[in-house]
Amino acid sequence: MKIAVLPGDGIGVEIVAEAVKVLRALDLKFEMEEALVGGAAYEAHGHPLPESTLKLAKEADAVLFGAVGDWKYDKLERKLRPEQAILGLRKELGLFANFRPAICYEQLTHASSLKPELVAGLDILIIRELTGDIYFGQPRGRREAPDGAFAGQPEAFDTMRYTRPEIERIAHVAFQAARKRNRKVTSVDKANVLETFQFWKDVVTEVHAQYPDVELEHMYVDNAAMQLVRAPKKFDVIVTGNMFGDILSDEAAMLTGSIGMLPSASLNERKQGLYEPSHGSAPDIAGQGVANPLATILSAAMMLRYSLDQEEAARRIEAAVKDVLAQNLRTADIYSEGTTKVGTKEMGDAVVARLKAQ
Ligand code: NAI
Ligand code: MG
Repeated sequence: MKIAVLPGDGIGVEIVAEAVKVLRALDLKFEMEEALVGGAAYEAHGHPLPESTLKLAKEADAVLFGAVGDWKYDKLERKLRPEQAILGLRKELGLFANFRPAICYEQLTHASSLKPELVAGLDILIIRELTGDIYFGQPRGRREAPDGAFAGQPEAFDTMRYTRPEIERIAHVAFQAARKRNRKVTSVDKANVLETFQFWKDVVTEVHAQYPDVELEHMYVDNAAMQLVRAPKKFDVIVTGNMFGDILSDEAAMLTGSIGMLPSASLNERKQGLYEPSHGSAPDIAGQGVANPLATILSAAMMLRYSLDQEEAARRIEAAVKDVLAQNLRTADIYSEGTTKVGTKEMGDAVVARLKAQ
């Protein structure tokens, strides 16, 4: 098992070090190799995603990624900006399935945007298709409106489209992920209005025939947006297209406590994946040793589950994280009165200690 470790910039360096520490505390044999990415790679090699880093990522079974970016790079031309490294990795590795879990830990329910009883014990997984849909469909552009009441007026247009194989592969990913969870998939569409999403619904239904042990329901996206704040615990796995998934996953993030707790993953057809916290490089707190490493540690757990076939180890890490919260240890972003404030390193050490005590 080979892991490419790409800490990146800002707090990326601090939080990835903790996740690596946690991985090393497991009794598993990993080969871990570190490389520069983002602003750090630009400084050293003049490019945010150097050839050597890309090569390492391609050869590895999984990439553990911190975060990239800093305000000081805002004036660079677009292709040299740190954030381009993530887009480059997604494209080069063909990462089409984005996993965004929304988990609300018991001790952090007060930090949710919703009433505690609605989110206590919440554990859902949003799977967003990442490479198709209206974000990439051609043609797109500006022109004179060719017809209609506003013919001749300036207009802009985009194209929503999905091919059958693109829908099939994301549907397989969703049904297989549901098998590792509670065996229920909600496919979110807008089939009542959009041809693209009628097709989506038809293809997902076809693929479902291969997964009779998983329950499938279809839901319109407007209803899904409503249900996510009305009764989020009714969901298990949500699978949807690029645009709906973009919006719903941000909505779901607000159901949980802090951005410092949210892991994410992007996978390709070979189950190679990029695992990273949902947050950025937080230049405002970088270098202070106060960042929350748990999103990255939980991303490492997802890596074990989805790319490395180590379900048992993944659960051990997740249990250890629950334990440290139960011990009332908190980094500043999740701190509340009556709990113990700890720094990045102490939080990582506490997770390792819980792992060893299991
Ligand atoms: P951000 O997520 O870095 O920070 C937003 C706020 O959340 C800040 O106040 C930060 O201190 C706090 N925060 C984030 N992660 C935290 C953690 N683990 N523990 C405690 N507090 C945490 O988003 P922002 O400020 O919009 O962007 C900063 C830089 O990060 C920019 O250069 C941006 O482009 C980049 N970025 C990179 C991403 C990536 O590498 N995948 C994703 C999002 C932003
Ligand atoms: Mg978004």
